[in-house]
Amino acid sequence: MTRILAIETSCDETSAAVVQDGRQVLSNVVASQMDLHAKYGGVFPELASRLHVESIVPVVSETMEKAHLDWQDLDAIAVTYGPGLAGSLLVGVNAAKGIALGRGLPLIGVNHLEGHVYAAWLKVEGDALCSVPKEELKFPLLILIVSGGHSELFLMHDHLKYERLGQTVDDAAGEAFDKVARLLNLGYPGGPVIEKKAAQGNPAAYHFSRPKLDGEYDFSFSGIKTAVLREVQRIATLGPKGQLPPGVPVADLAASFQASVVDQLCSRTLKAAEATGATAILLGGGVSANEMLRTAIKARAHVPVYWPPLWLCTDNAAMIGAAAFWRFQAGQRAGWELDVEPGLRLED
Ligand code: KG4
Ligand code: ZN
Repeated sequence: MTRILAIETSCDETSAAVVQDGRQVLSNVVASQMDLHAKYGGVFPELASRLHVESIVPVVSETMEKAHLDWQDLDAIAVTYGPGLAGSLLVGVNAAKGIALGRGLPLIGVNHLEGHVYAAWLKVEGDALCSVPKEELKFPLLILIVSGGHSELFLMHDHLKYERLGQTVDDAAGEAFDKVARLLNLGYPGGPVIEKKAAQGNPAAYHFSRPKLDGEYDFSFSGIKTAVLREVQRIATLGPKGQLPPGVPVADLAASFQASVVDQLCSRTLKAAEATGATAILLGGGVSANEMLRTAIKARAHVPVYWPPLWLCTDNAAMIGAAAFWRFQAGQRAGWELDVEPGLRLED
């Protein structure tokens, strides 16, 4: 039995978890800073790292208490070392090093994106809103990671073996949701509010055309965001302090924007799944919480489509503990020189 304490502080969530054998979550604690960043309309990096410093010790203590374990019951300490905000990652990496050194435990560095991938291996019960594999997954698997910082398609050939097929050439999908929500005065984070507003609008009211890209499986979202801005500007020039002019059809714009993003993600993902002969499609990252995205991919895919429950779609340490298990099994250990890598990529 392998029990790993994992720490995740790459963005605006301070999280710790204890995961057993890469599958069972013994405890998972997330202290979200979202409300504090909301007034800035996005994550404020300096504030994020300061809040991580305040939360890390209580979050780790609570995680150990909830797991009903002592330090000697642990086999390793895992931590996200990239990609993410440098100042935020530093807090987690230093906390993990301190615990590992103090308790004489091995240290494992985990790529945040790999965490989103391995969320699919965690056992979850009694959550009707997720679609988790009932049997052992067979490779190759097609992975779509869509979050506030990433939009990437990978072919996963085996455990820990990834081939990048495509990525965004500009904004990440979640970033586009956040920016359009700000433009439409809907608040932060943008994904959930746009999804809610879109339910009252007509997705065919506007046609935000698909971008032409060189890479077959690449994404681009900044053009759609600009098209929404142009439409708002066309209806009326923006008022003082960026206020939304009256008469803007917010629900129709939100619905058409969402439909356009979903259409792009869906078409590239399905094309890649067919071309590669993937046995299943795994969705991960905050944007995979989007109901329309899940339904659209599932409806058109010829292979099973899986997505984690909401609490595992957005940032959490349980997924880092799941990924760390496979690295631990492979004998990988990080040295004390482990440093943050804000631009870390996920490849072989
Ligand atoms: O994975 P995540 O929690 O953090 C990053 O690693 O970035 O993703 C956060 C992103 C935000 O941009 C948020 O707007 C988006 O996920 N998001 C959604 C939904 N819920 C969260 N986007 C679309 N639809 C949603 N329901
Ligand atoms: Zn994430």
